[in-house]
Amino acid sequence: MALSLTLFLLPLFLSPFTSQTLTTPNCAAVDHLSSGLQIFHINSPCSPFRPKQQISFEETLFQSQSKDQARLQYLVSLVAKRSVVPIASGRQQVVQSPTYVVRVKIGTPPQVFLMAVDTSNDASWVPCDGCVGCPSAVFSSEKSSSFKVLGCQAAQCKQVPNPVCNIGSCGFNVTYGGSTMAANLTQDTLKLAVDDIPEYTFGCIQKVTGPNPVPPQGILGLGRGPLSLLSQTQTLYQSTFSYCLPSYKSLNFSGSLKLGPVGQPIRIKYTPLLKNPKRSSLYYVNLVAIRVGRRIVDIPKAALAFNPNTGAGTVVDSGTVYTRLAQPAYDAVKNEFRRRMKPATFTSLGGFDTCYTVPITIPTITFMFQGANVTLPQDNFLIHSSSSSTTCLAMAASPENVNSALNVIASFQQQNHRYVFDVKNNRLGISRETCS
Ligand SMILES: *[C@@H]1O[C@H](CO)[C@@H](O)[C@H](O)[C@H]1NC(C)=O
Ligand SMILES: *[C@@H]1O[C@H](CO)[C@@H](O)[C@H](O)[C@H]1NC(C)=O
Ligand SMILES: *[C@@H]1O[C@H](CO)[C@@H](O)[C@H](O)[C@H]1NC(C)=O
Ligand SMILES: *[C@@H]1O[C@H](CO)[C@@H](O)[C@H](O)[C@H]1NC(C)=O
Repeated sequence: MALSLTLFLLPLFLSPFTSQTLTTPNCAAVDHLSSGLQIFHINSPCSPFRPKQQISFEETLFQSQSKDQARLQYLVSLVAKRSVVPIASGRQQVVQSPTYVVRVKIGTPPQVFLMAVDTSNDASWVPCDGCVGCPSAVFSSEKSSSFKVLGCQAAQCKQVPNPVCNIGSCGFNVTYGGSTMAANLTQDTLKLAVDDIPEYTFGCIQKVTGPNPVPPQGILGLGRGPLSLLSQTQTLYQSTFSYCLPSYKSLNFSGSLKLGPVGQPIRIKYTPLLKNPKRSSLYYVNLVAIRVGRRIVDIPKAALAFNPNTGAGTVVDSGTVYTRLAQPAYDAVKNEFRRRMKPATFTSLGGFDTCYTVPITIPTITFMFQGANVTLPQDNFLIHSSSSSTTCLAMAASPENVNSALNVIASFQQQNHRYVFDVKNNRLGISRETCS
């Protein structure tokens, strides 16, 4: 059984390099499709979470960078048996904002939520009735006849981080974007388009503490661990899903998410999916080298190497916006890029350090994964500021305080490609697809 979901697109003044096409989203239309349901970009005209005020390009860039910092911190924190990270200091307003949301239904009769799609989280969670510190839209468990709270003896209770027993029911705490949430482990029917998933296990959030907002209507965990959507739907979707993220050119564009092996591309390049016990929820791949123009840049082996003992390596993530490379890898790519760009004068803007006013000659960038070379279209590595007529290389270095090198292939670099997560066969398929 395959399920198609439509993805909706992204930020405000971040217009990529080429000209824009006018499109108008039809937010209601896809709701009538029997084959799928829509996924919106969080800032899409179809999303109730879009910012009320439009902000400048520079601010947006800056914000995306700081959100990515928080995301990186989160990804780095996912070391085995330590899923709870210290709350970030008050000075640093870190917000881990999800990029894409999907409309799902929970309960009997169904209640509708726009949950954030997150490939680096396993457990799903929603804010529940009685929650202290949650946003207003909450799941009313009392109104659902199929809702159940799991007991401390339930097998699933051993799969959550730091479980606690609250008068016989299974509770746990999760940290997300610098805030901590206390949840009960619960079950109810999850409805994705036409598919009913009975007794779906998720966290029912009871309390949020911390400086930062959490995704207002919860997250849908697409990670690879035991409590993820994939693990809970092995018969239905056979541990397979794919997405094509829409172009960053307009918030109105749409892409798609497909669950299950049916309808996935047949002709596609594959690279092995690796499992790293240090961060078992994440999708690791083997990034062997990076080519800029025709030259394979000289990157110290340790900056790209997969290491199951330290957690080092390269992950593919839907929740980080700009690709992050370990410092030596980023330096090598950046330096070769600067050498080949004409004119040679570069500046910086926001969090980007390789920017040009009038780029004339632009080299290509190729990610060389084991078994699959992926040459990025310019829209996937150049970000253009319309207000300051500046074009930047849309990548950055990973935070230096990381004890082991973590490279993250992020959503900007993934747009208009189909990424097939074939967990059953331990492989990731990548192909170009104009989905927006
Ligand atoms: C997006 O859709 C809105 C209507 O919802 C329309 O006003 C706007 O021009 C569209 N933008 C682009 C870039 O197509
Ligand atoms: C849910 O968790 C809270 C504490 O986080 C606890 O007080 C409450 O009893 C739990 N609810 C149920 C129904 O188990
Ligand atoms: C979980 O969070 C609650 C409330 O936010 C707190 O009282 C409790 O001590 C936390 N439990 C653990 C195991 O961290
Ligand atoms: C990737 O490109 C390099 C040349 O830059 C080539 O040697 C290698 O065979 C290619 N890999 C695949 C899987 O096509």
